[in-house]
Amino acid sequence: MAILDILNYPEKSLLKPSVPVESIDDEIKELVKNMGETMFDAPGVGLAAPQVGVNKRIIVYDTHADDPDFQGKKTEFTALINPEIVEASGSITSEGEGCLSVVDFTADVKRYENVTVTALDIDGNPVKMETSGIIAVIMQHEIDHLDGILFIDRISVLKRAMYKKKIKKQIKQS
Ligand code: NI
Repeated sequence: MAILDILNYPEKSLLKPSVPVESIDDEIKELVKNMGETMFDAPGVGLAAPQVGVNKRIIVYDTHADDPDFQGKKTEFTALINPEIVEASGSITSEGEGCLSVVDFTADVKRYENVTVTALDIDGNPVKMETSGIIAVIMQHEIDHLDGILFIDRISVLKRAMYKKKIKKQIKQS
């Protein structure tokens, strides 16, 4: 197992759509393990493969992210291969949503309250999950990554412009 480097905006791999996984071979299983370890090490509650430079449709998330008893315990992660949102309803605002690839910035983002996701699990079995609240927000955030979309693409134009300006300045200075 290994901790992988997490890419930061505006790295190209974050901005392009990822391709479906065709077979869950040893290489994919190894990648998934490393993604889980990398996510917990960061620490974060979700991570998508493009964030570690692999443009394949794979996400991992903290299985207990919505359970206060497990807060920060990093006990277990779930991997979803080729996840897809097949149903969405309701509306919530995620408070202070952030991303391991968008450093030093958080924002409230309008999200669906409930999403149903289909995917394959790590053994290749089809799964269908009905999620709501925090887990639903994580699903939307991570699946967005697979389409090259970041949460800053879902905030106001003004806020996004402010963030981009800040990043440009940082890049210039370094
Ligand atoms: Ni993210």
